[in-house]
Amino acid sequence: MKLIEAIIQPEALERVKNCLFEADVHKMTVHRVRGCGQQRGYSESYRGKIYKVNLLEKVKLEIAVNDKFVEPTINAIIKGARSGNIGDGKIFVTDLERCIRIRTGEEGGEAIG
Ligand SMILES: Nc1ncnc2c1ncn2[C@@H]1O[C@H](COP(=O)(O)OP(=O)(O)OP(=O)(O)O)[C@@H](O)[C@H]1O
Ligand SMILES: [Mg+2]
Repeated sequence: MKLIEAIIQPEALERVKNCLFEADVHKMTVHRVRGCGQQRGYSESYRGKIYKVNLLEKVKLEIAVNDKFVEPTINAIIKGARSGNIGDGKIFVTDLERCIRIRTGEEGGEAIG
């Protein structure tokens, strides 16, 4: 099991949701977050001296998946979120140790799927 966390542009959320749906991925948690990447929140055309970071509005998705859904999920996020411009976002993938469905007590793959 993996936990896929993706930071995307807010305006890409609808497209990403549609692409995830097409990939048969329906479970997700979505947060509004603020962040910055390697431009420290300023565009590449910014000419002034950068002395601090500028936090921009982003959307974060958290999706826990069984192993066979890792690549389809990543591909769907990229398909929906890539414009080719800076700030398109980033995907983090980490091992997920446990998942428990509270209602039934099911664990692991059963609980995630
Ligand atoms: N190393 C990181 N750790 C934590 N969050 C990050 C990291 N890199 C990016 N992020 C988050 O992802 C968002 C989008 O990052 P962004 O796409 O600007 O990455 P980048 O490395 O600057 O790539 P690009 O040059 O394409 O803009 C950031 O605003 C931040 O919230
Ligand atoms: Mg950036």
